[in-house]
Amino acid sequence: MDSKLEEKIELLKKKYEASGQDINSYLDGLLYSEYLTYWDYIELDTLLSLQKPKTGFPDEPIFIIYHQITELYFNLILREMEQMKVRGNQIESDFFLERMERVNRYFEALTTSFEVMIDGMEKEQFLKFRMALLPASGFQSAQYRKIEIGSAQFMRLVHVDQREKYTLNSSIAEMYEAIYWKWGATELATGKKTLTLLQFEDKYSEELIRFGEGAAGRTLWDLALVLKEKGQLSDEIIASLRKHDTLVNVTWPLAHYKSAVRYLQRKPEDIAATGGTNWQKYLPPRFQKRIFYPELWTEQEMEEWGKSWVKDALS
Ligand code: HEM
Repeated sequence: MDSKLEEKIELLKKKYEASGQDINSYLDGLLYSEYLTYWDYIELDTLLSLQKPKTGFPDEPIFIIYHQITELYFNLILREMEQMKVRGNQIESDFFLERMERVNRYFEALTTSFEVMIDGMEKEQFLKFRMALLPASGFQSAQYRKIEIGSAQFMRLVHVDQREKYTLNSSIAEMYEAIYWKWGATELATGKKTLTLLQFEDKYSEELIRFGEGAAGRTLWDLALVLKEKGQLSDEIIASLRKHDTLVNVTWPLAHYKSAVRYLQRKPEDIAATGGTNWQKYLPPRFQKRIFYPELWTEQEMEEWGKSWVKDALS
């Protein structure tokens, strides 16, 4: 037997002995097991069985699949953020920067591909099949909310008009009551919470508050402060955080807003008549003023938040 093979068998023996296992049984397993295929490895058949349109319109699967693609990217982002969170005070600048670049790359891919929604479906089909999907909305994406919660100190997610009521010491549960997104899910006509929000809160509020408590002190911003303490908060890292703030809070929301404008543009009175939300006043970044890292922007940049991008995005 060649010496490399012998060496490997010896290593394997040690590995199995260490946990009280017999290498022979595992070698038998290797002998009988099938070769791995691409389709089994990535669970292709399962993946392609997960699109279940509610109507027969051929454009509905585009809507489903693009949402699924987005959720998978959100999941990639959350995995990177989790790795950073786990390092906590041990975080090092190289690791932080590399992970921030990954996160930004994923969000950039989502932003630049949003044309799939904006231009990629027939308006007539969309307006019909969406009626079969009510009251579901991307608004109910818990992964999107976790990205927000894991990025910034919780207070930054409190509605812009309520922020002064809270301090960095307020509890997550208290601040959750004034979280900005509630204002996006209120019926225009009655001022009541929409069913979309009620369903979402019922399923996720507890989980999101727990997630927020777990992230407190270890959000991306808190980790940046750890790096600052260590004298490692480089210009490159600051640039990556500013890019993240821009992508999550301006560029992606504007790409998304553009699709709402393309398909749903109506007068507020007509929206109210059908129990809709005032998304035209809610979605644009210049109204939400959601800013993860205010410390990294000038007063003027925050004052004009989202404005300089609007012309380009909506032209
Ligand atoms: C034609 C495509 C789309 C249209 C017309 C659209 C429309 C809307 C509207 C009107 C809202 C406001 C809340 C509501 O009234 O339900 C909303 C919220 C939201 N949608 Fe979409 N959407 C589209 C695609 C997507 C996609 C692909 C995603 C990806 C997951 C998504 C994620 C979200 C999120 C996260 C919110 C909440 C935003 C916030 O709170 O600031 N949407 N969408």
